[in-house]
Amino acid sequence: MKGAGFYLAAFAPILACMTAPLIDPFARAISYLRVSVTDRCDFRCAYCMTEHMTFLPKAELLSLEELERLCSAFIRMGVQKLRITGGEPLVRKGIMTFFEAMGRQVGAGLQELTVTTNGSQLRKYAADLAACGVKRINVSLDTLDDAKFADITRWGRLPQVLDGIAAAQEAGLRVKINAVALKGFNESELFTLVDWCAREGHDLTFIEVMPMGDMGEAQRVDQYWPLSDLRARLAERFTLVELDERTGGPARYLRLVETGQKIGLITPLTHNFCESCNRVRLTCTGELYMCLGQEDMADLRAPLRANASDAGLEAAIRSAITRKPKGHDFDYSRAKVAGQVSRHMSHTGG
Ligand code: 5AD
Ligand code: SF4
Repeated sequence: MKGAGFYLAAFAPILACMTAPLIDPFARAISYLRVSVTDRCDFRCAYCMTEHMTFLPKAELLSLEELERLCSAFIRMGVQKLRITGGEPLVRKGIMTFFEAMGRQVGAGLQELTVTTNGSQLRKYAADLAACGVKRINVSLDTLDDAKFADITRWGRLPQVLDGIAAAQEAGLRVKINAVALKGFNESELFTLVDWCAREGHDLTFIEVMPMGDMGEAQRVDQYWPLSDLRARLAERFTLVELDERTGGPARYLRLVETGQKIGLITPLTHNFCESCNRVRLTCTGELYMCLGQEDMADLRAPLRANASDAGLEAAIRSAITRKPKGHDFDYSRAKVAGQVSRHMSHTGG
């Protein structure tokens, strides 16, 4: 039997590199960081970007080393889950060196490293991601129809994404499909998507379309397919059991009794999920958004570049967290889209 002194001595190096956890003014612990590593994408999804989207000048982006330093600071301050997003994260040049660096922290502070991708580069990178300790990935896929896929993504091709998903499975990654629910677009494919995911063993989550970016207001309201309606249609074919499981975000889960499938529903506009929010979002230029639905952000690039030591950076992160708001202001209930935020999802990272 070893005494307490032994354990203190043994764990001192670990304790020394941990600093006090991030707790916001509403007593929510910030344990989840979503990081957009690029605003660029090889697709042009209609609900996300205009076809001739202007991207940020490359010089504005944080370097991969800077991203690594920032994420490491968050991990020291208690972030346990890191989700890498974009744009399309896997189109950023050299991105695997960043995944490798983050992968080394899995099990040493970081509990989970995940990625949200459009799937186009998975054939190339799935095995490398698995080697970096990634166990699960989210793939955005709204339709299983070739022509509709080309239509909604403008530049994407379905066979390439399906092949990417197959590569992910071969590499042992668990795949969750994220489908944006779009009125008049994939309503007719509800059961096709559910059945395909059951056959392939993928989890499936539907997302209500969110008022992001500068696409026409009319278009967004037109596309809005409330998940309450989607759920009612599921109930026509399946027995639904509501699961208690929450992940600190806007997703709620249902079990389809007949197939055993778990279906996620992300309804940022119709449900209040803010009270359990555990996350913040970092953009590819080093802006920290404390809430997806609010404009307030903190610039972390300046403190990052101002100093080679991390003390200033950590102070800036702590100060930002004290400004995390209680909740968001999205509201579709009026004819006009209220509470809309002007930035693009590809900038903030979903
Ligand atoms: N509303 C809802 N989801 C969106 N995504 C991109 N733009 C929007 C939007 N306006 C989704 C993508 C992907 C995730 C990162 O965000 O389809 O699944
Ligand atoms: Fe690219 Fe994802 Fe936006 Fe589509 S939704 S354009 S895949 S970032």
